[in-house]
Amino acid sequence: MVVVPSPSDAAGSGAGVWSAGSSRARSFDSAAAQYADSRPSYPPALLDALEDLGGRPLAGAHVVDAGAGTGIATALLHRRGAHVVAVEPGEEMARELRRRVPGIPVLRGDGNALPLAGACADMVTYAQAWHWTDPPRAVPEAWRVLRPGGVLALWWNEDALDIPWIAAQKGRIARHFGGDPSPRPRAEAGQLRRAFQGVENVPPYAHRRLRWSRTMTVDQHLANVGSHSIFLVSGEHAKAFLAEERARLLSLFPEGRVEEVYDVLLIVVPRP
Ligand SMILES: C[S@@+](CC[C@H](N)C(=O)[O-])C[C@H]1O[C@@H](n2cnc3c(N)ncnc32)[C@H](O)[C@@H]1O
Repeated sequence: MVVVPSPSDAAGSGAGVWSAGSSRARSFDSAAAQYADSRPSYPPALLDALEDLGGRPLAGAHVVDAGAGTGIATALLHRRGAHVVAVEPGEEMARELRRRVPGIPVLRGDGNALPLAGACADMVTYAQAWHWTDPPRAVPEAWRVLRPGGVLALWWNEDALDIPWIAAQKGRIARHFGGDPSPRPRAEAGQLRRAFQGVENVPPYAHRRLRWSRTMTVDQHLANVGSHSIFLVSGEHAKAFLAEERARLLSLFPEGRVEEVYDVLLIVVPRP
C-alpha cells in the first residue's frame, strides 16, 4: 500500500453531520487508556461477515482502518492477516494504538480527508467511528482510496435495548444528559439512511446485525460507559451519574458482574 503522509496534523476539519461537534469528537484523547481497557471489541462473526459481504478474505487484503482509536478493530483485522494502515485524528488515541498494536503504521488524519494515495486499499473500515465523519466528504474519500472492487465497511456495537437493565440504564443516561428518556431499538431502515445522510448516489449496499455479549465487573462496565464522549465532556456531572449508577447496579447485581449485550450493525458498500 502506498502511504502518503498527512500534509499536517490538522485533522478534524469539521464535525460530522450527525456528530455532536468537534469537542466531543476529540474528547477520546482525554481517556485513551480507559477507552482501550474498557470498550468492547467485536466478535469473530463480525470479521466472518465482513469477509462474506466484502467478497474476499481479510488475509492479504490492504485495509485502511479509519477512526482507528486505540486499535481495537485494527488489531482484529491484523490478526486475520490483513495489511492494515490505521488512520486516527487524536494524538493520544494514536499514541495508545502504537503502544497496544505495535508494528502497524498509524497516520494522523481524518476520514473526511484521508492521508492516503488514491486506489491503494481493498477495504476502508470504520469501527464505531463513521458517525464522527461528514458522510458527503467521507464517502468520496473512501471511493478515492479504494481500488476497483474495494469496499467501504462501517460497523457499530449497539446496546441491545430489548434487555431490560440495558434499556433502563440507557434511559437514565438520556435523562441525565437531557435526551430521550425512553430509548427504543431504532428502526433499521432509518439507521441505514442516516449513515449516508446527504450523500448522493450511494451504491446498493448490504448489511448484517449480529448479537454477542461479554460479562464483566460493574466497575469495568462503568469505565466503558464513562469512556463515551458525552461523559468525557461532562466532568463532575458525569462523575455524579456514574457514582449513583454504581450503587444502583450493585443492588441489582449483588454478585458485582453484568452481561453487556450488543448487536453489531455492519454495513458494507462496494466502491461504485
Ligand atoms: C468511538 S472511537 C472508535 C475507535 C475504534 N475504531 C474502535 O473500534 O474502538 C471513535 C474514533 O474516531 C475518531 N474520530 C473523530 N473524528 C473523526 C473523523 N472525522 N474521522 C476519522 N476518525 C475520527 C476519534 O478520535 C476516535 O478515536
